[in-house]
Amino acid sequence: MRFTNDHGDYQFTNQWFEGTARGVWDQLMPDINPTRILEIGAYEGASTCYLIERQARHHDIEIHCIDTWEGGVEHQPGGYVQADMSAVERRFHHNTRLAIGRATHRVDLVVHKGYSDFELSRLVAAEKQNHFDFIYVDGSHQAPDVLCDAVLGFRLLKPQGVMAFDDYLWQESLPYGTDPIRCPKPAIDAFTNLYCRKLQILKAPLNQLYIQKLSD
Ligand SMILES: C[S@@+](CC[C@H](N)C(=O)[O-])C[C@H]1O[C@@H](n2cnc3c(N)ncnc32)[C@H](O)[C@@H]1O
Repeated sequence: MRFTNDHGDYQFTNQWFEGTARGVWDQLMPDINPTRILEIGAYEGASTCYLIERQARHHDIEIHCIDTWEGGVEHQPGGYVQADMSAVERRFHHNTRLAIGRATHRVDLVVHKGYSDFELSRLVAAEKQNHFDFIYVDGSHQAPDVLCDAVLGFRLLKPQGVMAFDDYLWQESLPYGTDPIRCPKPAIDAFTNLYCRKLQILKAPLNQLYIQKLSD
């Protein structure tokens, strides 16, 4: 995958970002123009590199990436995505190094290797409340994890900041059908319902959900 013709040496092995987020972000990023960015779920850094390429063209940026690089349940033995997660992590570092090397402005990349509940709590404890302009939630797809990412992420999001949830409609086909605990939608719905006085939902294709924070 290439973002531009002369950036052929990125190492990406899938089209997840291209297939879902990129089209929406091309429209959205000029409005948000984020300087402080948080990503939950970085994998090989496709979304990270897009944000570095795009935003560090205009100004200095700070970008935090949280990932265990252990994969989710879908990466576990018997899951439908088989990946050597150590190689995935190496590709993340290779790709982000390239993107940072090409940036015209300063990029502070902060990598938080660990579980998102733990790493987000650390950011809250480090007084990063209301710090981020843009948060991308694309880590675990298990409903309890997504709920935790949403609630802690919201604390870290600035008023007027935007939080994007990938895979709003994602679900597995399991031998017993679908399992509401093993998909993001029930968690995202619970979060947007309970926080309805503090956020607005932005218009976007329904495989992702975008909210804007109105108040704490
Ligand atoms: C779908 S991938 C992210 C894709 C990436 N945003 C992109 O656009 O290419 C999900 C990532 O979330 C990570 N992950 C899954 N559960 C997690 C958890 N509880 N905490 C932190 N990271 C997690 C996995 O290791 C995996 O790298």
